[in-house]
Amino acid sequence: MRQLSVLLTVLLFASAMSAQSLKEIPLSVPNKTRGINVMKAFDNRHSDREFANKDLSIQDISDLLWAANGINRPADGKRTAPSALNKQDIDIYVFMKDGVYLYDAHKHSLKPIAEGDHRNIIAGGQDFVKTAPVCLVYISDLSRFGMGNTEQVKLMGAMDAGIVSQNVNLFCAGVGLSTVPRASMDQSALKKLLKLSDSQIPMMNNPVGHPVR
Ligand SMILES: Cc1cc2nc3c(=O)[nH]c(=O)nc-3n(C[C@H](O)[C@H](O)[C@H](O)COP(=O)(O)O)c2cc1C
Repeated sequence: MRQLSVLLTVLLFASAMSAQSLKEIPLSVPNKTRGINVMKAFDNRHSDREFANKDLSIQDISDLLWAANGINRPADGKRTAPSALNKQDIDIYVFMKDGVYLYDAHKHSLKPIAEGDHRNIIAGGQDFVKTAPVCLVYISDLSRFGMGNTEQVKLMGAMDAGIVSQNVNLFCAGVGLSTVPRASMDQSALKKLLKLSDSQIPMMNNPVGHPVR
């Protein structure tokens, strides 16, 4: 019995420590003048499933997240991505080789969630994902609609995630980065790692990196 309680204490401590050695990452002011014109970006948009062995800069990550679902109207906190009923249900978790972070759009920073390389959870059998320097995972928190987990609400969450993903697809096409929108990922491992509630549904993800040229 005593051994069991010691083991439980150790496990609880380990879980509390899991994100502690990671620090919050303040992001840079988004560069709103970079990239090619919007029609050229549509022309370039395509899925890439191979990435160069090169990290993204902090400016790239900052611009990527702002384009994905950052605040573009500080007066009322509205976002670069529209959302059904303006419920802003999509949270972006950022998987990198050192750990997992949650994008805080209000602070424009990355909040540590879990230490270590967990990109295998996003790969879902597609190994190229493990080589992407950054994987963005879109989780819809259906509780923000305040209508239960109905089919209609799930559809709204899925559509909101698709719009965030398309922001990322077009951003990447516009600035010369590579990405692919994906639905594959290990849902149950994700739920466990991120301690998601039943109303938080992983919808899609975008691995992002530099093209191989
Ligand atoms: C909702 C959705 C889910 C997708 N899931 C995956 C996926 O799990 N793995 C993958 O490699 N591609 C995935 N794709 C990418 C499509 O295969 C790709 O967009 C399609 O083949 C067309 O190619 P293009 O993006 O270059 O136009 C997904 C695309 C969408 C829109």
